[in-house]
Amino acid sequence: MSRTVLVLNGPNLNMLGTREPATYGHETLADVSSLCRQTADELALNLEFRQTNHEGELIDWIHQARARCAAIVINPAAWTHTSVAIRDALVASELPVIEVHISNVHAREKFRHHSFVSPIAVAVLCGFGVQGYRLALQHVAHLLNAKG
Ligand code: DQA
Repeated sequence: MSRTVLVLNGPNLNMLGTREPATYGHETLADVSSLCRQTADELALNLEFRQTNHEGELIDWIHQARARCAAIVINPAAWTHTSVAIRDALVASELPVIEVHISNVHAREKFRHHSFVSPIAVAVLCGFGVQGYRLALQHVAHLLNAKG
């Protein structure tokens, strides 16, 4: 059985570290990638870590994951609050989805309180900073180990 986990990052997350550090912290996307790589190694998961600013590209990656991956961890960033297309692609993948947000979106503007992804996710993490990615991968390992 596949132990490949696709970690996807949406728009503007390539700017982590310099973008609104009071909200998102000082760690860069490369730091998040390293954290995920180290966590995946500890948990014997195969990791694919990607970021895009193009919604169609993200949707293509989700479609391709269906045949190859065991789970998707996704920080859809602003598309969380706008994209039915990403939600539909995630449903079509038939994979367990874990939604991650670095900030606590519920403590921020009202438009960030609604997520198109949360109702179809197995778990949602927000406000843990970049450690949320590590926690999400730990939960994926737990789900896969429980499946046997
Ligand atoms: C975010 C929260 C979103 O509301 C925002 O648009 C982002 C990042 C987070 O990780 O906290 O770009 O997903």
